[in-house]
Amino acid sequence: MKIAVTGAAGLFGRGLVQVFGEGHQVSPLSRKEGDITDSATMREILRAIAPDVIVHSAAIPDIDECEKNPEQAWRVNAEATRGLTEIAKDLGAGLALISTDAVFDGTSRRPYKESDAVNTPSVYGRTKVAAEEHVRKLQNHWIFRVSALFGPGKANFVNKAWCKAMGGEPYVVASDQLGSATYTLDAAKTILEVIGAGVHRTYHVCNQGECTRYELAKRAVELAGLNSSNVIGKPMDEMKRVGPRLKYAVMDMQALREQGIALPRTWEDALRDYVGTLQPVS
Ligand SMILES: NC(=O)c1ccc[n+]([C@@H]2O[C@H](COP(=O)([O-])OP(=O)(O)OC[C@H]3O[C@@H](n4cnc5c(N)ncnc54)[C@H](OP(=O)(O)O)[C@@H]3O)[C@@H](O)[C@H]2O)c1
Repeated sequence: MKIAVTGAAGLFGRGLVQVFGEGHQVSPLSRKEGDITDSATMREILRAIAPDVIVHSAAIPDIDECEKNPEQAWRVNAEATRGLTEIAKDLGAGLALISTDAVFDGTSRRPYKESDAVNTPSVYGRTKVAAEEHVRKLQNHWIFRVSALFGPGKANFVNKAWCKAMGGEPYVVASDQLGSATYTLDAAKTILEVIGAGVHRTYHVCNQGECTRYELAKRAVELAGLNSSNVIGKPMDEMKRVGPRLKYAVMDMQALREQGIALPRTWEDALRDYVGTLQPVS
């Protein structure tokens, strides 16, 4: 398969490129190749590649940045996705959108299923809901909602906790943000399997189990054999962040189960593997 990956220099993009590259012809597209909001340039680039599938990971995933610059968030997350959907349609390519658990409202008392209504409090979430709506207009599409990402190649939540612990510095993290966690390499393998199976629908893809951000950071530091007493859990209300976070965003992977696709392993098993490979990155 010929696969083009947008956001290839990002955290998830790197994982997607690494895993897809093991058995397929991958074209990594980062900002260096073209700005995704420049539809004419993206059309030329993608026409030359002639991919079977475009995996669209590029976005502004920072909730606070999206609240502060809503116009830019809409342009990059939603409008550029509309442009890529049109390009995919014209080229006869499939399009797989990387989306997020932030499309939900956080008030559920049980894990969110793919069929649950979206109703998000954040600008980021609304731009991703709009991106999903654009992509659904293409028959040959997949939507993969992932949650708190960790993985190699770029600074992330887990790797920051590890760096702080290495330096004996405190790391303050939300104690009341309960969700799923996603190892980029595990999610990339599952996404590849789903694309290969060819069933077009929305999928939740994360590691099994649930954890707060605090539990995730603390466990990472423990698995690295470091002192975890400097990982400090705080209620989100005390953290004075700009954008709204969901207190509950655990995802149920019902669609994977229905399609007979193996669920990724538990977050703790994935974290153990990842921690074994940790090195400082910026
Ligand atoms: N991070 C998470 O925990 C998380 C959770 C759920 C869902 N997601 C979703 O997963 C996907 C990947 O997120 P990530 O964590 O890998 O984010 P990331 O590390 O910030 O990567 C996103 C990439 O998109 C690129 N990009 C942004 N605007 C662009 C533009 N106008 N033109 C070209 N490239 C552009 C960025 O390039 P620059 O570096 O040059 O800006 C960056 O390399 C996103 O769709 C996000 O919504 C992420």
